[in-house]
Amino acid sequence: MTKKIEALIRTEKLEAVKQALSDIGIVGMTVLQVHGQGRQGGLALEWPTGVYKVDLLPRYQLNIVLSDHNVEKTVETICAAAYTGQPGDGIIFVYPVEEVIRIRTGERGRAALSYPDDIDVRSTGADPM
Ligand SMILES: Nc1ncnc2c1ncn2[C@@H]1O[C@H](COP(=O)(O)OP(=O)(O)OP(=O)(O)O)[C@@H](O)[C@H]1O
Ligand SMILES: [Mg+2]
Repeated sequence: MTKKIEALIRTEKLEAVKQALSDIGIVGMTVLQVHGQGRQGGLALEWPTGVYKVDLLPRYQLNIVLSDHNVEKTVETICAAAYTGQPGDGIIFVYPVEEVIRIRTGERGRAALSYPDDIDVRSTGADPM
């Protein structure tokens, strides 16, 4: 089964998370700049002039598609690198993926997946681009 990991992380954690993922062999990803809110509904900023509520906070969203036996290690890696212990550390969603098609080669499914096998093995044959 192919899965998509969607991780919402603090903007200041992007470099650490990308590095940690690269260290386990994950390089292919889509990164989006997004705005969101979690259970606290944003932040209250207390200034001498008053309290200002900011509801939607900037986050990065990382999308990574891989085979399901690589999901746990990837999730653990993201959690460790994105963690501060404070509210707002982020959230990770995992979805099933129907199909993968590499445009250049026409490969489909498992063959088109960047990480069909164990990600620890650095032999994904990833393209230089
Ligand atoms: N239920 C949700 N649905 C969609 N996106 C969510 C949801 N909860 C959180 N997010 C996304 O995750 C980002 C970070 O959320 P956040 O870390 O504050 O989650 P939380 O559940 O409130 O956890 P914490 O209590 O640690 O703050 C949000 O800005 C938003 O983009
Ligand atoms: Mg929150």
